Amino acid sequence: MITSLTPESIDDYLSSCKDAIDRFLSSLFEKETGEPYGTLAESMRYSLLAGGKRVRPILAMAALEALGKDPHPFVPLIAPLELVHTYSLIHDDLPSMDNDDLRRGKPTNHVIYGEATAILAGDALLTHAFTLLSAPDYDNLLSPANRVRIVRELSSASGMNGMVGGQQLDIASEGKALNLEGLEFLHRHKTGALIRSAVRIGGLLGDADPTSFAALDRYGSAVGIAFQIADDLLDVEGDAAMLGKAAHKDQDRNKNTYPGLLGVEGARSMAKAKLDDALSSLMLFGEQGVHLRDLARYIIERRN
Ligand code: IPE
Ligand code: IPE
Ligand code: MG
Ligand code: MG
Ligand code: MG
Repeated sequence: MITSLTPESIDDYLSSCKDAIDRFLSSLFEKETGEPYGTLAESMRYSLLAGGKRVRPILAMAALEALGKDPHPFVPLIAPLELVHTYSLIHDDLPSMDNDDLRRGKPTNHVIYGEATAILAGDALLTHAFTLLSAPDYDNLLSPANRVRIVRELSSASGMNGMVGGQQLDIASEGKALNLEGLEFLHRHKTGALIRSAVRIGGLLGDADPTSFAALDRYGSAVGIAFQIADDLLDVEGDAAMLGKAAHKDQDRNKNTYPGLLGVEGARSMAKAKLDDALSSLMLFGEQGVHLRDLARYIIERRN
C-alpha cells in the first residue's frame, strides 16, 4: 500500500543524500590553479557548488536502494550526472538561449565570468563527467561492460537524442504553439531524458534484472516529464526569492509549457497522471522503493 509523503522524512532523506553528493563535488577542481585552469576551474566550481537540489544523483541513489544496494560507495559514479546537469544550466542561461541572470540564487555564470568562459565552463563540465566515469577506479563496483553501458547512457541522454535535442526544439519552437504530443516530446527530451537516465544509471550500477530495469525505466520516464511540468508551474506560480531563478519568464519568451497549453489546473492534472504512472511502476520493489516513491511526490509538490 502506498502511504502519503511525510515531509520530514523526505527532507531528511534529501539532505543526507545531498550532503554525500556535495562532499564529492566539492573535492573536484580544487587543485587546478594558475591559468588557463584558474578562471576556468573557478567558474566550473562556482556553478557546480552554487546550490542545486541534486535531484538527478539522488534519483540514482534511490534506484540503487530500490535494488537493495547501499548507494554511498557509488557516489563518484553518480555525481557526473550533476556535472552534465550544471553544464546544461550554464548554457541554458546564456544570452543566446534563455538569457537569465539569476541561477541557484546567484548571478549566472556568464554574468560573473563572461560569455566565453561560461561556454567553456559548460564544455569542460560536460567532458569532465566522462573523465570521471571512465576513471581507472571503482572496478570493484562495476564490470567493464556496465561501465561502457553507463557512459553510453549518459552521453546519449545528454546529446542530440536527449537534452541537447530538446533544448534545440525548445528554442526553435518559441512563439510556435506545439500540440500536446509535441509538447510532451519536447519535455521528454530537454529535461526528461537526463532524469530518466539518472534512474537507469542507478539500475545499471545496481545490476538490475531486466524486469526491475524496465520498471525503473518507466518510473524515470514518468518523473522526468513530471519534473518539467512542475518547473513550468513554478515559473507561473513562484517568485525569484523562492526559486533562486527568475519567475514568469516562459510566457514573456513565448515558450511552450504545460500551463500555457492546458492551464494551471490542466498542467497539475497531467503532473498527477505522471505521478500515478511512476508510483504504479514501483510495486515490485515493495518497501525498498520507498525513497523513489517519496521522490516522485516531491518532484511534483516541490516549491523550488
Ligand atoms: C532546472 O533543474 C532546469 C530544469 C531541467 C527544469 P533543477 O530544478 O533540478 O535545478 P537545480 O539543479 O536544483 O538548480
Ligand atoms: C531547462 O528548461 C532545461 C535544461 C535542459 C537546462 P528551462 O529553461 O525551463 O529551465 P529553467 O527554468 O531555466 O531552470
Ligand atoms: Mg530553457
Ligand atoms: Mg531556462
Ligand atoms: Mg523553466
